[in-house]
Amino acid sequence: MPPRPPMKGGPRKAKDPKKTIARLLSYLSQYKTTMVIVIVCIIVAAIAQAASASSLGTLVDDYITPMLSQATPDFSPLVKYLCLMACLYVLGIVSAFLYNYLMVDVGQGTQKKIRDEMFRHMQTLPIRYFDTHPAGDIMSRYTSDIDTLRQMISQAVPQCISSIATLVVLFIAMLITSPILTGVMILTVSGIVFVTTRVVGKSAGFFIGQQKSLGAVNGYVEEMIQGQRVVKVFCHEDTCKKEFDALNDALRQNAFKAGAYSNIMGPVNNNLGYIQYAILAIVGGLVAISSGGQLLTLGNLVAFLVLSRSFNQPISQVSNQINAIVMALAGAERIFELMDEEPEQDDGYVTLVYANVDEDGTVSEAPARTGKWAWKYPHKDGSITYTELKGDIVMENVDFGYVPEKTVLHDVCLYAKPGQKIAFVGATGAGKTTITNLINRFYDTADGRIRYDGINLKKIRKPDLRRSLGFVLQDTNLFTGTVYDNIRYGKLVATDEECEAAAKLANAHDFIMRLPQGYNTVLTGNGAQLSQGQRQLISIARAAVGNPPIMILDEATSSIDTRTEALVAEGMDSLMKGRTTFVIAHRLSTVRNADCIMVLEQGRIIERGTHDQLIAQKGTYYQLYTGAFELE
Ligand SMILES: Nc1ncnc2c1ncn2[C@@H]1O[C@H](COP(=O)(O)OP(=O)(O)OP(=O)(O)O)[C@@H](O)[C@H]1O
Ligand SMILES: [Mg+2]
Repeated sequence: MPPRPPMKGGPRKAKDPKKTIARLLSYLSQYKTTMVIVIVCIIVAAIAQAASASSLGTLVDDYITPMLSQATPDFSPLVKYLCLMACLYVLGIVSAFLYNYLMVDVGQGTQKKIRDEMFRHMQTLPIRYFDTHPAGDIMSRYTSDIDTLRQMISQAVPQCISSIATLVVLFIAMLITSPILTGVMILTVSGIVFVTTRVVGKSAGFFIGQQKSLGAVNGYVEEMIQGQRVVKVFCHEDTCKKEFDALNDALRQNAFKAGAYSNIMGPVNNNLGYIQYAILAIVGGLVAISSGGQLLTLGNLVAFLVLSRSFNQPISQVSNQINAIVMALAGAERIFELMDEEPEQDDGYVTLVYANVDEDGTVSEAPARTGKWAWKYPHKDGSITYTELKGDIVMENVDFGYVPEKTVLHDVCLYAKPGQKIAFVGATGAGKTTITNLINRFYDTADGRIRYDGINLKKIRKPDLRRSLGFVLQDTNLFTGTVYDNIRYGKLVATDEECEAAAKLANAHDFIMRLPQGYNTVLTGNGAQLSQGQRQLISIARAAVGNPPIMILDEATSSIDTRTEALVAEGMDSLMKGRTTFVIAHRLSTVRNADCIMVLEQGRIIERGTHDQLIAQKGTYYQLYTGAFELE
């Protein structure tokens, strides 16, 4: 079995924890008042805890012991004091509740804010980011990373502060109660800390191993769920079971080691605590008896023993919480990494506006939709020119590569006059989709120029540019919502009638009417209940509804049967009137009536012409299509 890569977002340490902490604090700064209340509550709770323990000493020395020598004991002072103690306990509980409650609010609020910012920023990122980062990796920042962060803010940090505050207050209380016993206490606590850090240090390695194995198991299951069809088709069920068994067994072993160590920690700590208690009791007893109560009263001894019992817990808590904080900081760093990604740059200043075109061809801006559009070009001298949106695309000597080392397009030139249908054909990987990626500026050219209605493409504002293009992308994506909603994605203000007209144009109307609720059928899971071809028809309707001057269809008809394809071609033909169209298709019928066919090979246009010209040339196009040609 090949080794599996380590889990995404597994246990890691933050690279620059100081910077991350500073940034997290900036999120907490809006909760200044709350944080002050929280810290006050933490201190009050710690003091209340120590005071209620110390008060036991006073209870024994000043109330119970004197009563032993009274013939008829008077209980009223005792009752008063007990009431006072009860108040202390209640105060401790109420303040602990209050700070925990407030911190949950702070944690959730911060989490929401970060999630909001992360999503908003993600929407600004260029396609390049999504092409180079696996979806699962981005996803985990929204789920596990942000959740560990919330836990850190609402639990780990306040518990850490509370533990430290408790330790300080308890230490002072112990020092006041008995300096001698405090000295003994310091010695025993050092011993316990020494032993536990040894065990914790050992177990940390096993915990990391456990996390890694868990990641591997999760990753495998995820892959198997997605690839179940492939598994079944190739009868890989048994191999999968074996592979899974191996991963699962590794997880069991690592989890066992981690669990064994952490389970042993509890009893070890407890027993060490008892030994410490016994030592304190013996030393305390000896000191009290030998000094005749001068150095230590019975009440002080009782109080000290209670205080000492509360002292060990915060120590182990601090070490646990520090672990949680370290993990959460690594997650926070990954979140901030996404937020710091460079957003998509847009230096465009030419915008798309509604236009009126006079008979003499003068273009002016219109306040409302007129059915015509113009490019508004503000010049440096303050003047503005309007150019009617026609759909004229020119590429001049365009070079491009996704990575600098590998050029994908070489010296591509093309001219598409308004209303023309340009077809790209070529082997898979030739660079057809890449050309469309440059037209909508998902990526920018390395060299050469693209002009749109005579304007340099880079001067056009990206949203305006994309609004003017009707795109049917190679991978169909439908969103959760009704068929209407999905078609309306192409033009948010489209009426139901417009959506239906677009669907008719794309020849999607008939099958949509056969769906259980017609246009109101809710599609989920990327239109999982539809066939591939049906999904494409809806995406064609979605592109058509906006009535764009340029249509770009990337292999839109590849999964449609020949008969449907003919219907779509018909629809497209009417759709294409007065529109520039770029079609990428593998089928002869789709490309043969194109005004110009570009044959691409390894990023170069090697042949261009109409179908008849290219067939007559007997070149690559002829070779690509003779098979299909003969079939016809
Ligand atoms: N996001 C990307 N990052 C890096 N290289 C890429 C990326 N997308 C495509 N390529 C590379 O660019 C080349 C052209 O790819 P393109 O998608 O344009 O091919 P195509 O002609 O559309 O193929 P197909 O017919 O299979 O859709 C290929 O060699 C491919 O490996
Ligand atoms: Mg492609």
